Amino acid sequence: MAGIGIAMLIMWCLTWCMASALSVKYYEQTCPQVEHIVAGAVHKATMNDKTVPAALLRMHFHDCFIRGCDASVLLESKGKKKAEKDGPANISLHAFYVIENAKKAVEAECPGVVSCADILALAARDAVALSGGPTWEVPKGRKDGRISNAIETRQLPAPVFNISQLEQSFSERGLSLKDLVALSGGHTLGFAHCSSFENRIHNFNAKQDIDPSLNPSLAAKLRSICPAHNKMKNAGAPLDSTSTTFDNAYYKLLLQGNTIFSSDQALLTHPKTKALVSKYAASQKEFHRAFVKSIIKMGSINGGTEIRLHCKLVR
Ligand code: HEM
Ligand SMILES: *[C@@H]1O[C@H](CO)[C@@H](O)[C@H](O)[C@H]1NC(C)=O
Ligand SMILES: *[C@@H]1O[C@H](CO)[C@@H](O)[C@H](O)[C@H]1NC(C)=O
Repeated sequence: MAGIGIAMLIMWCLTWCMASALSVKYYEQTCPQVEHIVAGAVHKATMNDKTVPAALLRMHFHDCFIRGCDASVLLESKGKKKAEKDGPANISLHAFYVIENAKKAVEAECPGVVSCADILALAARDAVALSGGPTWEVPKGRKDGRISNAIETRQLPAPVFNISQLEQSFSERGLSLKDLVALSGGHTLGFAHCSSFENRIHNFNAKQDIDPSLNPSLAAKLRSICPAHNKMKNAGAPLDSTSTTFDNAYYKLLLQGNTIFSSDQALLTHPKTKALVSKYAASQKEFHRAFVKSIIKMGSINGGTEIRLHCKLVR
């Protein structure tokens, strides 16, 4: 009996312990230039387009939350089979070309060695660092997946989620309430379309048109940008007052009802998450430290099986 138990444990470990053993030195022998190449591609793109860092950070998050960090978010739809990219939650995902360009440059130096998922994880780190955020050593050795289904983007947390729904979405992926608060700090960068927050400014509930937890002056501003039955597809608002700087303004705004999503506001509805919001609002250093810990944890959710040669195609 004990023998079978141990054999099963070894089998289990062969699939999981090995697969999840990421290492910061993973490409030290096989592609020492990878970090430099990816950083160059992110830097170049950001110089031309200030929205690139936010896009790359969100792309990495979406990647990791569906099928693990396996670059499935990068795959293109094939005929009728719609990929994640064309799924319901794809709104605002962009800058895929940055990963494509980095991959091309990496393949020229070290063919067939570096996964698209690792390139995306590196690019997300570089995006944060370039925006004045912290930097960190990225554990690498992820593999790419072959499957990407539009319908699975439904597994992403939605901006209308309350705290219990957020907690469940994160815990299903091995992430804690602390990770939830720290990673929500990603909303210090970027932009949201009206459709992502219209629940708070029109028909909030049977009694109120506007979410009472939303600061009234922000509510008025958002309503003028996004009138009911808004037809302007590209209209929307920045996620925080310094939306190209990776600072802790998001948490300060959150305490004043000045963040955009219900899911941000929800962080104040649980004593534990509320305390963490206050902590990160008081100390940018604590936020940065916690963010690094949590994004490394999120980045190690594993999924893939191979190294793709083109990030948007499976062979
Ligand atoms: C906690 C659950 C989360 C929810 C419900 C959520 C939801 C959203 C939504 C609805 C948008 C706007 C999409 C649009 O209207 O264009 C957005 C944008 C963004 N999210 Fe999140 N998000 C969550 C967690 C995260 C995490 C963990 C990160 C990264 C650490 C992140 C980073 C971003 C960034 C950077 C943007 C701006 C993207 C851009 O400007 O291109 N989010 N998020
Ligand atoms: C998002 O999905 C829509 C609808 O399928 C598609 O037209 C659009 O190109 C997709 N966006 C991206 C960035 O792939
Ligand atoms: C969150 O929403 C779900 C689904 O609507 C509901 O069942 C649950 O009671 C809500 N939890 C909180 C804390 O509001």
